[in-house]
Amino acid sequence: MKTYDFRSDTVTRPSDAMREAMAKAVVGDDVYHEDPTVNQLEAMTAELLGKEAALFVSSGTMGNLVGVLSQCQRGDEAIMGTQGHTFLHEASGVSVLGGVSMFTVPNEADGSISIENLKGAVRNHFDVHEPISRLVIIENTQNFCGGTVLSQAYVEEVSEFCKQHGLALHIDGARLFNAAVALNLPVKELVQHADSVTFCLSKGLGAPVGSMLSGSKELINKARRLRKILGGGMRQAGILAAAGIYALEHNVERLRVDHVRAQQLADGLAAIPGVKLTRGTPHTNLIFCALEDDVEITTAAFLEKLKEMGVLIMDVGPREFRLVTHLETKDEAVEQCIKAFEIILN
Ligand SMILES: Cc1ncc(COP(=O)(O)O)c(C=O)c1O
Repeated sequence: MKTYDFRSDTVTRPSDAMREAMAKAVVGDDVYHEDPTVNQLEAMTAELLGKEAALFVSSGTMGNLVGVLSQCQRGDEAIMGTQGHTFLHEASGVSVLGGVSMFTVPNEADGSISIENLKGAVRNHFDVHEPISRLVIIENTQNFCGGTVLSQAYVEEVSEFCKQHGLALHIDGARLFNAAVALNLPVKELVQHADSVTFCLSKGLGAPVGSMLSGSKELINKARRLRKILGGGMRQAGILAAAGIYALEHNVERLRVDHVRAQQLADGLAAIPGVKLTRGTPHTNLIFCALEDDVEITTAAFLEKLKEMGVLIMDVGPREFRLVTHLETKDEAVEQCIKAFEIILN
């Protein structure tokens, strides 16, 4: 039986063409800056994002970690959303490894953090009791708010706020290209106000491994040292970087298709009695939905029955689920998923 995996856009496997590009990659020792393919990916990223430099890292988590630690000292504080990935799902790396405390403020339904709340989070630098506010993290698209896209006007407002308060701005753009195609804007514009940005090659873009961190030359030099400290200095990494280059060249525009399929899937699920869409989804390629209270099935049993019908989805809370469309989600996957929901709930 075929399996249709909606748990995440990280489950995609490299296509034959991507594997060919990887196999043919010209490589060298990247710790010595001698891997031409990694160098090419980093230059390409800096150009795409309108920044001075970029760094290839193993994951979005490492990108956020070295991005934050390049700008914060021990005892500094980073302000971020309660629904932010860095706060929720990165094992508090910035605190554990960097001694950076996290001041969390609520995300609004649209993924933003209100300026009012940001203001309330800024510490008094002159008071020795308080840590030093150093940086704000926003996420675009915002995963746990439903894959929401931050408006350009909002990002500008946050950037203004950061400038006024002497704070750096980091954008966790794990799914930045989903935001860019949704807004019909070049990624460069989305991140023009950020001091540091990460995006993942291993999510909707379909590469097997890797994320990029981008910013000024000075920031990336610091980040390169931090990556080495973390054991993230890879050698002939060009084999992986080649997949990233292939992804950026071939898999950006097609993210629109994922968004269309997410909408089709959401429409199909919403029409099934007992299912309700949550978090206002879909905004991009993420769908959140929940079972109505009167549906008599446990979350575990529901997931198991879907699995028996070849459909994998992820639970994100009591009776709430996340489904993600990606490169391997074809029309038949959408149809099978809707059919499985219908059969189980009937
Ligand atoms: C918004 C966001 N940031 C960062 C990450 C971390 O990426 P990785 O899994 O590559 O560490 C994720 C992963 O799902 C994410 O959704």
